[in-house]
Amino acid sequence: MDYKKYVAEKLNIEGLSKEELYGFIETPPNTEMGDYALPCFKLAKIMRRPPVKIAEDLATAFTADEYISSCTAINGYLNFKINRSGFAFSLLDEILKAGDNYGSANIGAGKTVCIDYSSINIAKPFHIGHLSTTVIGSALCKIFRFLGYKVVGINHLGDYGTQFGKLIVAYKRWSSEEAVIKDRLKELTRIYVKYHDEAKLDPSMDDEARRYFKLIEDGDAESNKLFELFKKITLEEVEKIYKLLNVTFDSYAGESFYNDKMSPIVDELKEKGLIKVSDGASIVDLEEYGMPPCLILKSDGSTLYATRDIAAAVYRKNTYDFDKCLYVVAYQQNLHFKQFFKVLELMGKDWAKDMVHVAYGMVSLESGSMSTRSGNVVLLEDVLNTTIEKAYKVIEEKNPNLPDKDKIAKSVGTGAVIFGALCNNKIKDIVFSYDRVLSFEGETCPYVQYTVARCNSVINKCGEAGNYDGVEMNADEYEVISVLGRFSDVVKSAAEKYEPSLVTRYCLDLATVFNKFYIGCKIACEDEKVRNFRLAITKAVKITLTNALTLLGIDTVEQM
Ligand code: ARG
Repeated sequence: MDYKKYVAEKLNIEGLSKEELYGFIETPPNTEMGDYALPCFKLAKIMRRPPVKIAEDLATAFTADEYISSCTAINGYLNFKINRSGFAFSLLDEILKAGDNYGSANIGAGKTVCIDYSSINIAKPFHIGHLSTTVIGSALCKIFRFLGYKVVGINHLGDYGTQFGKLIVAYKRWSSEEAVIKDRLKELTRIYVKYHDEAKLDPSMDDEARRYFKLIEDGDAESNKLFELFKKITLEEVEKIYKLLNVTFDSYAGESFYNDKMSPIVDELKEKGLIKVSDGASIVDLEEYGMPPCLILKSDGSTLYATRDIAAAVYRKNTYDFDKCLYVVAYQQNLHFKQFFKVLELMGKDWAKDMVHVAYGMVSLESGSMSTRSGNVVLLEDVLNTTIEKAYKVIEEKNPNLPDKDKIAKSVGTGAVIFGALCNNKIKDIVFSYDRVLSFEGETCPYVQYTVARCNSVINKCGEAGNYDGVEMNADEYEVISVLGRFSDVVKSAAEKYEPSLVTRYCLDLATVFNKFYIGCKIACEDEKVRNFRLAITKAVKITLTNALTLLGIDTVEQM
């Protein structure tokens, strides 16, 4: 039952559509005043009366019924109280019946969303800087799927550029197939770093690197064999991390995939008169839009990052016919996205409006941030392993007899990292702290996972929840129910705002009200109806928290 919709249907305001009215209705932060509220100042213009008067008139005209038990005017707000037991009973019923599907919807039926995320660079270490794009993108995929959209998750691999020529030069001088196969990304990083040190002294190496890159592009067998080896090693390494993080992709079409798809784009740009030649390079002038030019071809005719992104966007539109195409990429690339979205618009692609740069902030470790070139990077794998080890130690201390400690430590450690990265509004920079993400108190994953384990132990102790008809509800119980009822809206807003942190925050809210209820209300109590009711609440909390964590890519644990 959508009470907000019901209220909107029941009120009649001339000159205002039901949809607009629905949009005005709010959920007050404090349920004392009411469960829903209509701020009447939003109606003052249409109704041409002061808000206080509007609220009073609407309240007088309103008749309570089996769903809405009261409607009162307070300071220009119209406050509605719903029939709480009716709401509580039908919600619990709905959650227990829906199970894994609670919170899902089909608002996306027939629509496709492409999500470009993680998009790692081949032969470079998978470092903590990729954490956000990977977990935000993956959560968005799961959220959109949950809402019925068809989702295409794309890993737009950085597998194109002179750095591969450099890598071949370095490989030929200082490495071998055996070494690469044995030490994998560590070896590739070692030689890449060495290349940069040596090339400073011997600039001719850069010419050699350019030649090798050209050979890759021209399809030279030996160079491509090496390039494929670097690619294979990188993908195998990151796959391990993706598996831990519950991350999957539908496509790994990276930058090099567009090698043969760029010249038609360049032709189209020329035909449409958008190309200008400046110092030998082909550019699209964006001065009129307050931006520096978008580079399409260098003076030697080679393509750029933006050229490949334009080709990729056109390819995605043709292949998937998306309704939205999202790019989960750090805010450092704001300008790049603004530029190439503009170029698409200038090319007359009306779907350019459906492209969205989902920007996020930086992650650094407490000790400071890092860069790939210098080689002192913080590998995501190391961060995950450290967190898992630390989680294991905590379990060992708190609950040494727990079965399956390894598996639980994995879920808790990995969950802590994901949750830590998704906890705040995505645009904020985060400083990652092991102790903070692993704490059992405060805004953390272990706290939420522990709450699920707590629900579970109650359920195991109490068994089946029988009938609770006519039970009287107290404030703690109602608080949990009202938070449970918000879940579907939270999932929808998370999709609308491209903000998985809304789901993370929701987990914390639900865990907090549940724990308050758990401490304040004895669940396994004498009164059978009360016990049944509380048990049903506990089951509903377990289902909802599990669904929410699953959307974030986090496992729950039965015991902790
Ligand atoms: N590989 C790029 C990087 O690490 C990110 C690519 C993002 N996706 C895109 N279509 N440009 O910076």
